[in-house]
Amino acid sequence: MNDTTMRAISQDLIGGPEVLTEVELPVPTPGPGEILVRVRAAGLNPTDWRHRGASGLFLGEPPFVLGWDVSGEVVATGIGVTLFEPGDAVFGMLPYPYGHGAFAEYVVGPARAFAPKPVNLDHIQAAAIPLAALTAWQALVDTAKLQAGQRILIHAAAGGVGHFAVQIAKARGAQVIGTASAANHEFLREIGADETIDYRTTDFAEAVGDVDVVLDSIDNENSLRSLRTLRPGGLLVSLRGGTDELATAAQDLGVRAVRMLVQDDHAGMIALAELAESGALRPAVAGVFPFEAAAKAHALGETGRTVGKLVLTVP
Ligand SMILES: NC(=O)c1ccc[n+]([C@@H]2O[C@H](COP(=O)([O-])OP(=O)(O)OC[C@H]3O[C@@H](n4cnc5c(N)ncnc54)[C@H](OP(=O)(O)O)[C@@H]3O)[C@@H](O)[C@H]2O)c1
Repeated sequence: MNDTTMRAISQDLIGGPEVLTEVELPVPTPGPGEILVRVRAAGLNPTDWRHRGASGLFLGEPPFVLGWDVSGEVVATGIGVTLFEPGDAVFGMLPYPYGHGAFAEYVVGPARAFAPKPVNLDHIQAAAIPLAALTAWQALVDTAKLQAGQRILIHAAAGGVGHFAVQIAKARGAQVIGTASAANHEFLREIGADETIDYRTTDFAEAVGDVDVVLDSIDNENSLRSLRTLRPGGLLVSLRGGTDELATAAQDLGVRAVRMLVQDDHAGMIALAELAESGALRPAVAGVFPFEAAAKAHALGETGRTVGKLVLTVP
């Protein structure tokens, strides 16, 4: 490795975690409006193991370097960048889906995909935030316009997206009902859930009603079952479903359902940084793995049982 090359975690094949290999690649050059970031930590998300393990998703065929969540330092700026200078500590989500490449020593991305790293968080904590918390922010704030006093049902509330959604909803003064297995209920209460539902033993569709907003990250079937928990005119934001069947079923019940895909979002990152600095948003880090142990991190994440986030360090 020299000044013009870097280490990255890549794959030549679609497959299990074992397809992930360390490679040497050229250090990218920031184009107009872009920054080059020395990655210190990179968060993992389910979309990483989905793209690693299945063809036909957004990225086409490998080789590719996965990873959307970055915390690190600005090394160079492209033409026209006014927000950052070399040396600034930043965190952000590379444009989803085509801006991937965080599992590397360096990455380029649009300056406005980033925000200054919260001063009270280290790079590991900061890297845990972007994709999952932006998803929660864009669903609850931009899409549902969640208000103080409203009731929200958050599925998979102990997961990456869910645990941020609980905290964002609480910060906005909402009443939060979260689903998780019983072992995670204490965690849900600690982060602010008012009610917890063990989805393994309780039919949430029977137990919950009159909610204003549902955030569903499970699947279309779960979204369909969640519609009846909404009050008339209420909104379900689906992160994985969103079929025509869901839209029709929602219409028949006098409620609404939308499918949302997270987008890079400077204003959202600034808002999340402010929440983190105020102490209202705290990432739960379920595991930290050195860069070269990316396969182990993928295998753990793929169990679907992690509480909070997994992060790779890039020394
Ligand atoms: N559309 C988008 O833009 C977007 C953005 C981000 C994520 N997503 C998708 O949203 C999903 C969640 O992402 P994530 O990062 O939060 O995943 P994650 O961190 O891997 O979620 C793990 C959590 O899911 C919980 N869980 C699993 N099955 C459950 C069920 N039936 N009911 C309630 N909780 C359940 C587990 O809790 P227990 O162990 O207690 O069951 C665990 O804590 C993924 O499929 C991801 O691809 C979509």
